[in-house]
Amino acid sequence: MEIGTSAVTLVCDLPEEKDTKIKRSRKAFLIWVGAVVGAVGFVIATGLLADQVFRLRKQIDSVNGELFEIRFDQQVQRRNEENSVCLTKECILSAATLMESMDESADPCDDFYQFACGGWQKKNVIPHGHEGISQFSILDGRIDRFIKEFFLEYNTELDSKAINNTRDMYDACLDLNAVEELGITPLVKILDSFGQWPMTVSNWTEDRFDWRKASASIRNTFGVGFLFQVSNFVDVNDTDLSVIYVDQPSLGVPSFILRENNLTSAHVMDYFTFISAVALTVRDAIGGGAYDIDIVKDIEDMISFHIDLANIMTLNEHRSDWNLSRIYNPFSLDELQMWTDSANATNSMGQINWYEHLTDIYSIADVSINPDEKIVVTEPEYLKKLVQLLDQTSPRVIANFIHWRLVLENIYDLNDELMIMADAFDEAIYGPFPIPSREDWCLERVHVVMGFAIGAKYVEDSFDPQTKVDMKEMILNLKMAFSSLVEDSNWMDKETKINALEKAAAMKEYIGYPDWITNRTTLELAYHGINTKQDTHFDNFQSAKRFMVKNNLRFLRFRTNRDNLWISFPAVVNAFYYPMLNSITFPAGILQPPFYGKGRLAASNYGAIGAVIGHEITHGFDDEGYKTDKKGHEISWWTNHTLTEFYKKKQCIIDQYSNYTLLELKETDAFHVNGSNTQGENIADNGGLREAFRAYQNYVARNGPEKRLPGLEHYTPEQIFFLSFATVECSNESPESLEDQVLFGVHTPSRYRVIGPLSNSDDFIQHFKCPTSSP
Ligand SMILES: *[C@@H]1O[C@H](CO)[C@@H](O)[C@H](O)[C@H]1NC(C)=O
Ligand SMILES: *[C@@H]1O[C@H](CO)[C@@H](O)[C@H](O)[C@H]1NC(C)=O
Ligand SMILES: *[C@@H]1O[C@H](CO)[C@@H](O)[C@H](O)[C@H]1NC(C)=O
Ligand SMILES: *[C@@H]1O[C@H](CO)[C@@H](O)[C@H](O)[C@H]1NC(C)=O
Ligand SMILES: *[C@@H]1O[C@H](CO)[C@@H](O)[C@H](O)[C@H]1NC(C)=O
Ligand SMILES: *[C@@H]1O[C@H](CO)[C@@H](O)[C@H](O)[C@H]1NC(C)=O
Ligand SMILES: *[C@@H]1O[C@H](CO)[C@@H](O)[C@H](O)[C@H]1NC(C)=O
Ligand SMILES: *[C@@H]1O[C@H](CO)[C@@H](O)[C@H](O)[C@H]1NC(C)=O
Ligand SMILES: *[C@@H]1O[C@H](CO)[C@@H](O)[C@H](O)[C@H]1NC(C)=O
Ligand SMILES: *[C@@H]1O[C@H](CO)[C@@H](O)[C@H](O)[C@H]1NC(C)=O
Ligand SMILES: [Zn+2]
Repeated sequence: MEIGTSAVTLVCDLPEEKDTKIKRSRKAFLIWVGAVVGAVGFVIATGLLADQVFRLRKQIDSVNGELFEIRFDQQVQRRNEENSVCLTKECILSAATLMESMDESADPCDDFYQFACGGWQKKNVIPHGHEGISQFSILDGRIDRFIKEFFLEYNTELDSKAINNTRDMYDACLDLNAVEELGITPLVKILDSFGQWPMTVSNWTEDRFDWRKASASIRNTFGVGFLFQVSNFVDVNDTDLSVIYVDQPSLGVPSFILRENNLTSAHVMDYFTFISAVALTVRDAIGGGAYDIDIVKDIEDMISFHIDLANIMTLNEHRSDWNLSRIYNPFSLDELQMWTDSANATNSMGQINWYEHLTDIYSIADVSINPDEKIVVTEPEYLKKLVQLLDQTSPRVIANFIHWRLVLENIYDLNDELMIMADAFDEAIYGPFPIPSREDWCLERVHVVMGFAIGAKYVEDSFDPQTKVDMKEMILNLKMAFSSLVEDSNWMDKETKINALEKAAAMKEYIGYPDWITNRTTLELAYHGINTKQDTHFDNFQSAKRFMVKNNLRFLRFRTNRDNLWISFPAVVNAFYYPMLNSITFPAGILQPPFYGKGRLAASNYGAIGAVIGHEITHGFDDEGYKTDKKGHEISWWTNHTLTEFYKKKQCIIDQYSNYTLLELKETDAFHVNGSNTQGENIADNGGLREAFRAYQNYVARNGPEKRLPGLEHYTPEQIFFLSFATVECSNESPESLEDQVLFGVHTPSRYRVIGPLSNSDDFIQHFKCPTSSP
């Protein structure tokens, strides 16, 4: 769960932040198979990118942004200086930033968001073509600018191969002349390698194509599956090991245009138009000689099959709640074979030899499949229905479908002609929407592959290694504060308390970046196998995909190494809790002002990044996190009595937030905040604030009271803590974007992310001398 919203997202086809709107998920689709926040260890990371691992969506908590603190330099004498003023450069800068952000004419007890952010909101207008502006988006923009500048520098002999690859990929992506010159040749090459796209040629014959061999080969070169998806990832029920998952596939187009539709439905006709334009282009380019009228028939048959496929799949809505007892279905290889055989396929199309198929896929990574291999099937009924569907489908239709899906998978890397067709289709089904600039699109694409190489440059340039040390100490303080709050709580019994403390203690932290990226040898090793040139955009990404897919497949036999499981790249403005590994992650991108600043008051750092740390820790104990134990296994460690109390507390938060309204959305369904959808984030926000303040109090107890800020002498350091907590949330959003967020998002709009936790905080009420039950 993210703390805010940022450009980065998860690996599923519906990334958490982007799923707020279908349009956006389409955009996410443009950026590769989905986007990514993460990389679990480098190896897993790359796998995730390619594999669309289904469970990431609910599992990663990407905190887009919040908190941070700094430990004051030891030289600074703070003892006995309670009312003196800090005049260091850092204090002056941070004071000025707070002052600019505030609206002191507002009553902090009445509307603290206005009080802390009123000035900021006036000064920061939404940039043209954007839906909003926030502290996160401003930092994202700065990092993007840095990366683009780095991309544009020339390769030198000092650069590692990974860095050269990175620049090559970006250059080639921007080189539209070279892309045009290649035209659709790279695509035709792929189609040819699978025996040609039947509908585009006049003399296709069945013997040229075996869908099982083709699917295995597509899986281990492109990382995708069009009829079912095979992947490997940490075994949810035994997180020390990995296991093979078989899931339903991604359809390639949104389900709503196919499901329960037929050839006369409007969107299906748009789809027909799209496919037909592409097929005619391919036919003409290769001189395939197929007749128009045959192509029409082929497309109709193929779309009917695609609709049938959509109809037997489980809806995403039903998959979005993480219900392990539904999706975790372990099979042995034999059992899986018996399972699909029991669908009683009568012709060869419906028969799958799983041992052979998996062996084909994994052969590329030199992994041999064991006769007793464990396979987790997420949608067993789907698999059976698929076998029955294939059994009734002609080889020609299946071949047409698989070739078309290959086209669709690669279409955004081709020339203008095909991209315009794809955009026209998107626009027909979604209405007009802004297409990101080529620069931004290329940046994002390259980042998904080369995120650690880019991160290496970023931290070399913009990251003070001391920050890691400071963060480590701060996380320790936050964990101690969390633990003391658990110990003090009167609603948990002793047994549950012990388990909670154990889980917090076991939580693994990842700060800034993995050390291996700063070592040229290991960085080159990590990216060894990617081949790029400055003018072969299509091939560059094919090479990168193959590299990532192979890396990921190899991971099947690795034991989970919890010391090096990075789920994010460094140049990312976000923070994460990852339940399956019980880990918290704070990439280098968020460890800067306003979240964290070296030399600032500890009050500012604890209020900002400190509360972000607390937020992530608390996710381990929210409405999802409470289900998993210290190793990420779904085992209840709560006593019945305490669990009942937990449900009550949870309901209380749901009710509180459901009462919040957004005046600008008065006439819409989004007038009220959805307390239920946002409960996990709200629990994390409330816990985060409480833990951070407790940690700050401990800090003061150890180090003595802090000085005041220049120009803000009338505020105590404790008040500065709460101001810093609020200002990281300052944002302006268009009504449409706000509406999306309320309807589909997991985060409460920023105004209530500030007001909600503060109104529950006795510390806040006391330090701002508010009447109870404000702000
Ligand atoms: C990176 O490219 C530069 C310029 O072409 C070259 O001098 C250098 O050797 C390359 N680095 C590696 C490791 O290939
Ligand atoms: C199909 O026809 C084309 C040209 O008409 C020819 O070049 C090609 O070899 C034929 N393919 C097969 C498999 O017969
Ligand atoms: C999960 O692991 C536990 C302990 O190893 C085992 O008892 C249980 O049967 C497993 N659950 C499933 C669904 O395989
Ligand atoms: C297609 O769907 C429409 C609307 O759902 C329905 O009216 C029509 O009869 C269907 N046509 C066929 C051929 O099933
Ligand atoms: C989870 O799935 C199981 C099996 O399909 C079902 O019985 C159960 O009600 C589901 N639980 C929730 C919370 O939806
Ligand atoms: C397959 O055949 C077996 C044996 O005749 C039968 O018991 C089973 O119900 C059939 N399965 C399906 C899905 O029709
Ligand atoms: C970089 O990594 C290599 C391989 O692990 C190691 O041999 C070398 O000592 C490292 N270099 C530095 C400067 O740490
Ligand atoms: C806790 O609740 C579960 C389900 O409600 C019940 O099966 C179990 O016996 C209860 N345990 C105790 C110790 O009361
Ligand atoms: C929500 O608002 C209603 C009506 O104003 C009030 O009665 C109720 O107590 C509020 N609930 C919470 C949890 O604040
Ligand atoms: C909150 O969202 C969920 C899921 O979208 C929906 O089922 C529920 O009705 C919404 N609640 C309110 C109060 O709008
Ligand atoms: Zn969160």
